[in-house]
Amino acid sequence: MYRSHTNGELRIANVGEVVTLAGWVQRTRKMGGMTFVDLRDRYGITQLCFNEEVNADLCAQANKLGREFVIQVTGKVAERYSKNANMPTGDIEIIVDTLNVLNASLTPPFTIEENSDGGDDIRMKYRYLDLRRSNVRANLELRHKFCLAVRDFLDSKGFLEIETPVLVGSTPEGARDFIVPSRMNPGQFYALPQSPQMLKQLLMVAGMDRYFQIVKCFRDEDLRADRQPEFTQIDCEMSFVQQDDIIKVFEEMTKHLFKTVRGVDLGEQPFLRLPWKEAMRRFGSDKPDMRFGMEFVELKNEEGKNIFPEGFAVFDGAKYVGGICAEGQAVYTRKQLDELTNFVKSQQVGAKGLVYARVQEDGSVKSSVDKFYSQEVLQQMKEEFGAKPGDLILVLSGEDSNKTRKQLCELRLLMGERMGLRDKNKFALLWVVDFPMFEWSDEEQRLMAMHHPFTSPKPSDIPLLDTDPANVLADAYDMVCNGVEVGGGSIRIHDAVLQAKIFDVLGFTPEKAQEQFGFLMNAFKYGAPPHGGLAYGLDRFVSLFAGLDSIRDCIAFPKNNSGRDVMLDAPGFVDQKQLDELFLQSVAPEK
Ligand code: AMO
Repeated sequence: MYRSHTNGELRIANVGEVVTLAGWVQRTRKMGGMTFVDLRDRYGITQLCFNEEVNADLCAQANKLGREFVIQVTGKVAERYSKNANMPTGDIEIIVDTLNVLNASLTPPFTIEENSDGGDDIRMKYRYLDLRRSNVRANLELRHKFCLAVRDFLDSKGFLEIETPVLVGSTPEGARDFIVPSRMNPGQFYALPQSPQMLKQLLMVAGMDRYFQIVKCFRDEDLRADRQPEFTQIDCEMSFVQQDDIIKVFEEMTKHLFKTVRGVDLGEQPFLRLPWKEAMRRFGSDKPDMRFGMEFVELKNEEGKNIFPEGFAVFDGAKYVGGICAEGQAVYTRKQLDELTNFVKSQQVGAKGLVYARVQEDGSVKSSVDKFYSQEVLQQMKEEFGAKPGDLILVLSGEDSNKTRKQLCELRLLMGERMGLRDKNKFALLWVVDFPMFEWSDEEQRLMAMHHPFTSPKPSDIPLLDTDPANVLADAYDMVCNGVEVGGGSIRIHDAVLQAKIFDVLGFTPEKAQEQFGFLMNAFKYGAPPHGGLAYGLDRFVSLFAGLDSIRDCIAFPKNNSGRDVMLDAPGFVDQKQLDELFLQSVAPEK
């Protein structure tokens, strides 16, 4: 028997018992004739005690233990002289009788404690050591509980978990595919699924009625804090449903997860449903952070509103002028305002400049455009914002309304962050609904599907497909939490004729559509039920629960920002022989 208890288990009630423990040496402390060792495993830390006066040999052995040695000890549980209220096992210690070194360890490259001294790269290279840290491990424990709760809930609602293949053909979700060469089919490639979208639709055609899968998805896209090239979805699909049916089930699941996994009661109220257009107007984002207000106020817009007389060329030439009011922030210094200006002008945001106005104690407005506008105009601006003395008004303008709104969104988020309004323990959930079907791509010079090409247009908008496709709305919805898109889905097209029409609007020739999606369109000819679904980003959801800044921290072995696994040193070059078998040419540098 390697151990009788774990290192998180023993309490004052165990005093007097003889126990055997095993684990890693977190650290050793020598105090006079005593040596204390913190012994760690997944469950916690237990203090071991060696006394030179009682057993000098054993104590000498203990003094030789290095960090991360794997040891086994037997000894008696004793009440601790100086207790540690911060540790669950802090009332006791083990008076060790026998010590057995199971495995020595090299000195680890960083300290394996809650606050490590290791930088990101080194921790990722030695991720198996990083994962020994209790806070990193806690994220994986949370992820495990989350998955269990998802499976429990969906099972209780009659969903079947069904696996779908990883070696598939291309699936259009808008990113680049990862492709895998086929040895048995020379010159041909599989693609790894960006999501099981078409397969789950085929499962509906197959009559499975309610499907889910906790599934890896692969997308070759630029990485960010909330994006990994391989990530996990909770992928779901239902038959004989409308948008409301889907929203109802997944709102219930979300509330269940918050309650059982995070201990947060979201209440009985249904989540807010915000039309996409309104989200863009009020927050400049299709994933607004609703933990705080600071909504946009439009001073000039495309519907003809304009509070400004001619005089300031920048606003005169703009289609949209809008801003936010940061309560109590008139204290911002010139230097801080210059910093904000630099922020909005940065490449990441892309605005041309920032106009600001402070509301003074006497109610007058002092702004960066004083020389262009009378106090009367500035007072009207103040009224528009409902600004009070001490408030700071920040205004952006531009020729493209939605582009300017997106820039203003970045500023709103920054101010929210600075003003402490983005509390990680507060959760604001909503559905963004009524997405446009298509968006214009400058790069491709054509309309692209905003969700994916299988999304159903709103039935009332179908006639617009011929006359005004850019204004067709979709039966699509995203779930948003604290400014993060945690999930998204839609009602699907289940009619082969309508599907062919959408491919046509998207610029696919019938031949190309047949080549890429023929199997789905053919399946629809054999009795496809009306169906719809959604997929959650599991990594994003768990990160929100854990209050993490990056989804990497809840993934056991994540990739870095260049898409590399620095621990496995992947991707890597392969031998010419292997390439030859796959009929591929090498681009590897000469060895
Ligand atoms: P979508 O592309 O919106 O929809 O993806 C669903 C959810 O997956 C998460 N997500 C990601 N998480 C981490 N890294 C990534 N690179 C990444 N990309 C997406 C997001 C997102 O909301 N087949 C459709 C779903 C459907 O219509 O049913 C789909 O994949 O949280």
